[in-house]
Amino acid sequence: MKAAYTPIYGTPNVIELREIGAPMVGPKDVLIAVHASPVTAGDRRLRAADFPAITAIPGRLMMGVRGPRNPVQGTIFAGRVIEVGTEVQRYKVGDDVFGNAPHGAYAELLALPEDAAFTTMPAGLSYAEAAAIPYGAGTALHFLTTLADVRPGERVLLLGASGGVGRYALQIAKHLGAEVTAVCSGRNIPLMRELGADHVIDYRGEDFTQSGQKYDVIFDIADATTFGRCRGSLTPEGRYLTLFASLGVLLRMALNKLVGGQRALFAIAMPKREDVEALRELVDAGAISPVIAQSFPFDQIIEAHAHAERRPQGDVIVDVAEPPRLRAVA
Ligand SMILES: NC(=O)c1ccc[n+]([C@@H]2O[C@H](COP(=O)([O-])OP(=O)(O)OC[C@H]3O[C@@H](n4cnc5c(N)ncnc54)[C@H](OP(=O)(O)O)[C@@H]3O)[C@@H](O)[C@H]2O)c1
Repeated sequence: MKAAYTPIYGTPNVIELREIGAPMVGPKDVLIAVHASPVTAGDRRLRAADFPAITAIPGRLMMGVRGPRNPVQGTIFAGRVIEVGTEVQRYKVGDDVFGNAPHGAYAELLALPEDAAFTTMPAGLSYAEAAAIPYGAGTALHFLTTLADVRPGERVLLLGASGGVGRYALQIAKHLGAEVTAVCSGRNIPLMRELGADHVIDYRGEDFTQSGQKYDVIFDIADATTFGRCRGSLTPEGRYLTLFASLGVLLRMALNKLVGGQRALFAIAMPKREDVEALRELVDAGAISPVIAQSFPFDQIIEAHAHAERRPQGDVIVDVAEPPRLRAVA
């Protein structure tokens, strides 16, 4: 099968299309023909070994010293089940599915245990649209619900609302009933309004900490500030959420329970099947929809990675295979 191979860390040019062996399908596995996979910030960071701050050394030790330990990258997919193991109960051949994989989605075929973090695709979405959902929406849902428990009427500020996580954080926060302030650069203001933002701040011209406004939740998606700098803009019980581990945040998390009041919260989103099912329900309810900037054919995956680094106004998708014309008969 054809796969995008990342032998060493580096620029998009390190990626090579290679013919490799198809994955083995165990009795509890399903084999998926991948049709679409996005280029996420996580994919770009791993390709470039851009492990932030205190994760620089542990990142390489865990993910591979000179290149990714699993050189076929791609952690999100949408595709069609083409084979099921003898003990699989949840899926049948012909099901369209979407979700997360530990790695290996930049390949024509992907084998996953049936209990892995994927489920059947939302009705009415193309493979590209479905593939755009799990990364940003999954992360946003975990942070805004499990971590911050956002309640109706709360004020939520999103730093980096225009990016891969932010576009979904905005829609999910609105769905939860929050009053949302989106912080982004000026060119993204119309998109933020379209996605439902109540207020928009252009970070190039305005510092939200100087506005006098208080927020129940500040979600620092862009790693643009710190808990310390946000404290004056948080309500007494306010939560500062960050996608980035730092010593300061880890220490503050240890103190959260002891001192009460404002809290700093960091996590690494580790999606399960139930989380992807929750995303499908959000799509079906019309609460979230994807924004796709551009799709690239599989043999242009280098261009796709390069384009994703130019901060496009939406998700960048790799069309790993052409969608099948006819639905397979189970
Ligand atoms: N911990 C976890 O589990 C987890 C999960 C997913 C992602 N992440 C990490 O989270 C980070 C964000 O992911 P992403 O996909 O959203 O990245 P992204 O698509 O690159 O978006 C980043 C956004 O930040 C905005 N930005 C840049 N500087 C800013 C500033 N000073 N103030 C406000 N906004 C600013 C940019 O907006 P403009 O283009 O409008 O300037 C851009 O849209 C990545 O580094 C990723 O690795 C962590």
